[in-house]
Amino acid sequence: MPRDFLNTADWTREELEGLLAAASRFKRGEDASKPLAGRSVALVFFNPSLRTRASMQVGAYELGGNSVVLEPGGTSWTLEHREGAVMDGDKTEHVAEFVRVLGRYSAAIGVRTFAPMKDWDEERLDPVLAAFAKYAEVPVINLESAMHHPCQAMADMLTVREKLGEGKKRVLLTWAWHPKPLPMAVPNSFALAAAQLGHELTIAHPPGYELDEELVAEINRQAFDAGAKVTVTDDVEEAFDGAQVVYAKSWGGRMFYGDPADDVEERAQYRRQWIVDAEKMRRTDGGIFMHCLPVRRNCIVTDEVIDSPASVVIDEAENRLHVQKAIMARLLA
Ligand code: CP
Repeated sequence: MPRDFLNTADWTREELEGLLAAASRFKRGEDASKPLAGRSVALVFFNPSLRTRASMQVGAYELGGNSVVLEPGGTSWTLEHREGAVMDGDKTEHVAEFVRVLGRYSAAIGVRTFAPMKDWDEERLDPVLAAFAKYAEVPVINLESAMHHPCQAMADMLTVREKLGEGKKRVLLTWAWHPKPLPMAVPNSFALAAAQLGHELTIAHPPGYELDEELVAEINRQAFDAGAKVTVTDDVEEAFDGAQVVYAKSWGGRMFYGDPADDVEERAQYRRQWIVDAEKMRRTDGGIFMHCLPVRRNCIVTDEVIDSPASVVIDEAENRLHVQKAIMARLLA
């Protein structure tokens, strides 16, 4: 079976540390190896992307390889992932063939497949990503699925380490107001990776915007194993007190899943309060501001904060390249 990179929880803390060290070597120019020489990676995008797509293509090239981008329903056939489906609707090809054919051309397959945000019980199981992993005969890299964005989380962890040094940090993951409900992959993976690497994690969100219970249990278990603790609060002011890292992200409420209009109505009350502004940043311990991007300015974060020296969002985006090179090099060594 090929080793996949689907979720940081599938990898030990030591392995994640190894990836961060390898990413730093790539970034510093200390590793110019070409483990992808003469090989290609297939990048399957069901959804739009700037950072992930560009950094994976550039990363594959810098490792000596080639990349092939496919967009199901756009530049490639529409895809069915359900087992036993009677394909008499609008889906032309099944993942079972798509993935195995791609594996004959490429050394690894990256896939981006966002949550459609219609059926929580189904989507929390990451069915499209799971189908890719099931059928692939080469490693699969999760480029953001319904539940996880592990490449982003690794770039985030590298950024924290670069800016603040090694060791435990006080890290705040704060929900922020956005005009529409968004998937939970980024906050899920950020919280999980922060816990795995032993950071003191505070998760702040309004009532009704809890993360998945099973995932929160895993985050707590990982934090416990790493000698850290996790605090969950709905006090968006106090949450900033003493934070060294402020990571902002919006996500949808599970109780409104499939009903975006209800979520939009509910979240309206949080618009003024749940934004990262200079007043809240003053409560931190010289905290850095992080966001995965793209970000809606003056909704999630004020111009004043994102344009301040505390903002590390561009370095964070750059680090996607270095960690993904480390991941590809490790999987394809
Ligand atoms: N952060 C992130 O994954 O960016 P893109 O959606 O642009 O790839």
